[in-house]
Amino acid sequence: MTTKIEQLLQEVKAATAASADELEALRIKYLGKKGAINALMADFRNVADDRKKEIGRKLNELKDAAQEKINALKERFEDNGGGAAELDLTRSAYPVKLGTRHPITLVRNEAIDIFSRLGFNIAEGPEIEDDWHVFSALNFAQDHPARDMQDTFFIEAHPDIVLRTHTSSVQVRAMEASPQPPIRIVCPGRVYRNEAISYRAHAFFHQIEALYIDRNVSFADLKQVLLLFAKEMFGSSTQIRLRPSYFPFTEPSAEMDISCNICGGKGCPFCKHTGWVEILGCGMVDPNVLDASGIDSRAYTGYALGMGIERITNLKYRVSDLRLFSENDVRFLKEF
Ligand code: DAH
Repeated sequence: MTTKIEQLLQEVKAATAASADELEALRIKYLGKKGAINALMADFRNVADDRKKEIGRKLNELKDAAQEKINALKERFEDNGGGAAELDLTRSAYPVKLGTRHPITLVRNEAIDIFSRLGFNIAEGPEIEDDWHVFSALNFAQDHPARDMQDTFFIEAHPDIVLRTHTSSVQVRAMEASPQPPIRIVCPGRVYRNEAISYRAHAFFHQIEALYIDRNVSFADLKQVLLLFAKEMFGSSTQIRLRPSYFPFTEPSAEMDISCNICGGKGCPFCKHTGWVEILGCGMVDPNVLDASGIDSRAYTGYALGMGIERITNLKYRVSDLRLFSENDVRFLKEF
C-alpha cells in the first residue's frame, strides 16, 4: 500500500490540466467519491494495526497534496479568465475575439467616405491651437463671445493657446499650406468646449468639416453636396432644409435640417413635432477669411460646412445620452 501511495503522490505532483474540463477530470480521478484516494481509504481497514499510524499519515499527505494541486490549477484558470494553465505554444490561436468599432468612428468613417467619393481629401490639424487659427483668421471679432473663458479652454500661462473649439481651424491651416486653389478637404477631429457634462453636452466631442475653394464655386454647389450627403448618410428619402444663420467665417451662412429620420417628417417628440432636426452649419467662405489665409478673394470663392459627429450618431443609432460615447462601457460598445 505504501508504494501505491507514493506512486499516486508522484502522479498528483506532476499533474497538469490544459482546460477547466481537464481539471475537473483530474479532480474526479483523485478526489472524487469513486476516486483513487477514496479507494485507498477503503483499503485502510485492512492495514495491520501497527502500521495504521504511518500509513494514515501518508494517506492524509496524499489527500492534501491532491487538494492543493487542484486548487493551484483552478487559480490559474481563474487568473487568466479560463485560458491555458501553462503557456502552450501548440494551441490553436482561434477563435480570436474581435472587438467592434466605436460608433463615433463608424460615423466618422462613413462621412469621410461620402466626401472622398466627391473628391475631398482628408486634412488634419492640431487639437492644441493658437488664437489665430481658431478665431482671428476665421473673422471672429476680438470681443466675440466664443472667445469667452466660459466657452473656450485657454492655457493659463499662454492666453494665445487654446484647445480648439471647432475643426474650422483646419480650414485655415489648409489654406495657408496651399494658397493655390482648388482646395477640397474634409477635416475630422476632436474639439473641446468648457461645458458642464450632461446627457446633451460634453467638454469634448467630434466634428467633421468640409471646405471647397475654387473659381466660381456657388451656393448651388453647396446645396447639391449637402443634399447628397444627407441622402447617403440617412437614406435616399431624406429631405433637407436650409435656414439663414450667422457664423463669422461664412457669408451668407445657413443651418441645415434634415427631415426627422425617426418619424419620417410627420412629427415626434424627437424632432419636437416639427418634422425637422438640425445637423450642421454651412455657408460661403467669407472673403475676409480667404484674404487672411493668403487666397485672393477676388479670384476665388468657396463653401464650408461643419457638423458634430455625436449629433449624427445620435440620429443614426438613436443614442440619447452623449456620455455613453466616452464611458467605454463594453456592453454599449458591443452593440455596434
Ligand atoms: N464651426 C461651427 C461650429 O463649431 C460649425 C460650422 C458652421 C462650420 C458653418 C463651418 C461652417 O465650416 O461653414 O459650430
